[in-house]
Amino acid sequence: ARLAVLISGSGSNLQALIDDSQRADAPFEIGLVISNRADAAGLERAGRAGIPTQTLSHRGFETRAAYDTALAELLAAQAPDLIALAGFMRILTPGFVEQWQGRMLNIHPSLLPNYRGLHTHARVLEAGDPWHGATVHFVTAELDGGPAILQARVPVLADDDPARLAARVLAEEHRIYPLAVRWFAEGRLVLGSDHRAWFDEQ
Ligand code: GRF
Repeated sequence: ARLAVLISGSGSNLQALIDDSQRADAPFEIGLVISNRADAAGLERAGRAGIPTQTLSHRGFETRAAYDTALAELLAAQAPDLIALAGFMRILTPGFVEQWQGRMLNIHPSLLPNYRGLHTHARVLEAGDPWHGATVHFVTAELDGGPAILQARVPVLADDDPARLAARVLAEEHRIYPLAVRWFAEGRLVLGSDHRAWFDEQ
């Protein structure tokens, strides 16, 4: 299966996907990396791996819909089987999401449905929760609301600060994202009409 990865920043999840795609048993390859920021370090990671990159800045687009139309055109040239949002910090329009529903994943640094949105690590610490984690989910029009596919849990430690907790969560993200992408590439993941993610044993 051919994957397109959308990024905005460091691209450590992209790196995890690149590393996994290079294993002999990987059922997927990364055909394109698109960033909405020209300064995203993830673009260098893609370059080092010989993966084509495109930068699509939101500047110059009057509306979110116009941006998404340009994004769709970039993707159409590649015709990926799957889109992986990896630290992509733009909200996509319902029209774009609809086009890719069932073929677009995201990784979110919380145990969804808890802590949708931003600054999840600080919010978990603030709440005094004993557990935190990450979720790979199908992308739907509802921000961070799509059906969960795979989650990883980490303990919150007494002397944690947001950065330390984020690092612990990020390590788990790097573990579960490639696994979920493999499942999709192997045809074992379906977004059901009941809005639930189904994992099919083969
Ligand atoms: C991290 O906060 C991660 O939890 C979330 O996006 C941010 C950047 O990730 N998925 P990355 O290093 O750019 O993949």
